[in-house]
Formats: sequence, C-alpha cells, structure tokens
Amino acid sequence: MKKITFQPGREFALQLDAEDELASYRDAFVIAEPDVIYLDGNSLGRLPKRTVERMQTVISQEWGQKLILGWREAGWLDAPKRLGDKIGRLLGAVPGQIVAIDSTSVNLFKCTMAALILRPDRTRIVSDVFNFPTDVYVFQGCMRLFGNRHTLHLVPSSDGITIDQQMVFDAIDERIALVSFSHPAFKSCFAYDVEAITRRAHEAGALVLWDLSHAVGAVPVELDLWGVDFAAGCSYKYLNGGPGAPAWLYVRKGLHDKVLSPIWGWFTHRAPFLFDLEYDPAEGISRFLCGTPPMLSMSALEPSLDLLLEAGLPRLRAKSVRQTSYVVYLIDKVLAPLGFWVGSPRDPARRGAHVLVCHSAAYRINCALVEELSAVADFRPPNGIRLGLSPLYTSFEEIWEAVDRLRRVVVEERYVKYPVYSQPAN
Ligand SMILES: Cc1ncc(COP(=O)(O)O)c(C=O)c1O
Repeated sequence: MKKITFQPGREFALQLDAEDELASYRDAFVIAEPDVIYLDGNSLGRLPKRTVERMQTVISQEWGQKLILGWREAGWLDAPKRLGDKIGRLLGAVPGQIVAIDSTSVNLFKCTMAALILRPDRTRIVSDVFNFPTDVYVFQGCMRLFGNRHTLHLVPSSDGITIDQQMVFDAIDERIALVSFSHPAFKSCFAYDVEAITRRAHEAGALVLWDLSHAVGAVPVELDLWGVDFAAGCSYKYLNGGPGAPAWLYVRKGLHDKVLSPIWGWFTHRAPFLFDLEYDPAEGISRFLCGTPPMLSMSALEPSLDLLLEAGLPRLRAKSVRQTSYVVYLIDKVLAPLGFWVGSPRDPARRGAHVLVCHSAAYRINCALVEELSAVADFRPPNGIRLGLSPLYTSFEEIWEAVDRLRRVVVEERYVKYPVYSQPAN
C-alpha cells in the first residue's frame, strides 16, 4: 500500500474507502443499524452473513435431522482440528498444532501447567503489567497448584504505552521457566517483538506462551518460523466467532510427545470411544482437547475464518496499519486541542489493530458517545477509550465519523452530565 498524506474531513475518508481493496467485505457482515458507529470489533466482532446461513443449516439439517450421526456425518468430530488448522493459516502454523476448543482462560491454564511441568527445576515466570488479568490470575493459580514454589515477575512500563524490550531481556535468566505476554497488549495495543523475545527466552532455556487474542486475524505472527512453544487466544474479536466463541491453543509440534494437558478429558484419549478406564493420551495436538466440543459455537466460527483467509492477512494488516495511522493522525489534528492524546504506540510496527485515545474525562465522554451519538467503543480505566478497527469491515468513513462524534461530545459539553468514573465497589 502506498504511503499517504492524510487529511481531515469526510470527503477524504470517502476517498480512502474508494481506494480500499477490502471495502467490499463490509457487505459480508450484518449491519443492522448503519448509523451506529461500531468500533468494538476488538472486543466482539460483527456477525458475518454467512454465519447466519451456516447456523440455520447446522440447526435444522445437521442437529435437526442427523442427530447423533452428525458427529461423523457432518464433520463435527473433526471440527476442533479443522478449525485449528484454519486458524493456523492466519498464524504461520502448519496443520496439526492448533485446536479450537474451550475458553482462552482454560487454554492458558493448560499451556501454563504443561510449560511449568516441562521445566521442573525453574521457579520464575516473567510477564508484564500490560497482561490481561485472566493471564495473570492463571499464572497465580498454577503457582499455587505447584505449592507456591514459583515467583511471578511483571515487567513495568515507564510510560503506560510501551514496554522496554531491554527490561524484558534483563528479566530473563536461567531461573525462568516461562515467559508470557499478551500480544498486542489489550489497552495500549503495544505490539511486542515476538520473535526476539522468544529467541531470548530460548537462549535462557525458558519456554514461551503468547496470548494472541488481539493478534489473530489482524496482526501477522509466524508461530512456526519464530519457534513459539505455546500460544492461545480467543475467537470472538477479529475472528468474529460470536460471543463466547470457542478459543484455540497452539503447541509446537516438537513438544507434542513431551507434554500432556493437565486436564485429562476423554477427548484427549487416544481412542475416546473405547471407553477404556486406563488413560492413554492421544498423539499430537488432540491431547490438548478436553471434553465434547460445543458444536453450535464451533459452527458459528468457521464461516468467518474462511472470510479472513480469503481476504488474506497481508492485505488485512496493510489496511489495519493505514486505519490505525489515520486515527492517530485525526487524534492529533482534531482531538488534541480538546484535551485528548494518543495512548498507543506511534510506530505502526509496534502497534496492533486498535488505538487507545485518552482524555481525563474519558469515562464520561464514552458514556455520552454511546448514549447520545450512537458510537460504540470501550472505556478502559483510568482514562482510555479503545477504538477497535476491524480491517474486514470498519470503513474509513466510520473512523472519521467516530472522531467527529468524539469532538462533538466535548465541544457541545455533552459529557458533563455523566458521573465521574469511580472504581466498581467489587
Ligand atoms: C488478551 C486477552 N486474553 C484473554 C481474554 C479473555 O479470556 P476468555 O476468553 O477466557 O474470557 C481477553 C478478553 O478480552 C483478552 O483480551
């Protein structure tokens, strides 16, 4: 994509849409209320039209008519691996290393336990203050299960936007069992050098676990090439799998015969339908399944994976970089005079697919934005609003409109009647 000099105004946004070779994918999604600006695809992706059709087929023809025969005849049994392989194509993983199953939290637990078991003599986990709470809680829970032998080091951030890679490197030594971050970070959208951190961890003999919830479907990752050991992530953000969609996990092929999941569910058995009472783990990634896959939710995920694969990650990333750069430009140009500032990295190489826009009254501004001007974005304490840009369906016009509505909220003082943000009591 050629370099571009941005300009403010709707006309220019429309020009960017006209040049956008992925623009037609917007029509592949249900857009029930065109006036509502939806910048929350980084929390819950939109519903693809194909998913509506697919769900009707699954319910009426597969479940409705095939009943239990659907497990074999409708491809339900293979779904976790089939979908996993498709997710792998978005993450640089050859088939047989990813399964779509369970929630991200459960998959993080499975991977963390497996990693700590693989490094029994090491007693430290390295992460950072940007990690998503569920990741950190999972580490703390696993540490307890190991008898509190481990300590958790969270690398700090000096600016709340970036993490100094040298501080990550300095934290990694021969005591470290596991190095784990969420890439990109869920608030500031800081994107790590996954390859360099993975290499450094391996030099010290540690394993890595990347939570790629905010990367998959939007930010290029080369799991195999970079030698990543474990990865996990959700499917309801850029993968558009729907609320609570099955998550996924990756375990590097070279580890398959060395590790077991900590949950020996019957789907992890070599032959679940033998109903043998002696545990014998499956070969390969199937040993990281658990119980019966949730087939309705699995079915809702697949059509969107096909759409993303059709669009192709290089094009999605190119559009995403253009869109986040456009937002950064508009914040500087239109919103900065009103007290807003950019809370995400300015270097696109270090930024994922959303942009955090900050303001001292961010909570109240976001309330007014949603309530009065029909624009949906996420408030993140203490002072940020995440503008999630999903390159498959977010238009440049929407971005311009969202920025203009933020401007109006402040200029028209619409936010002043909303309460000041206070932390929830519990
Ligand atoms: C980075 C990251 N990890 C994990 C989760 C949530 O995990 P789960 O899917 O188990 O709710 C989120 C939710 O937004 C997230 O952003």
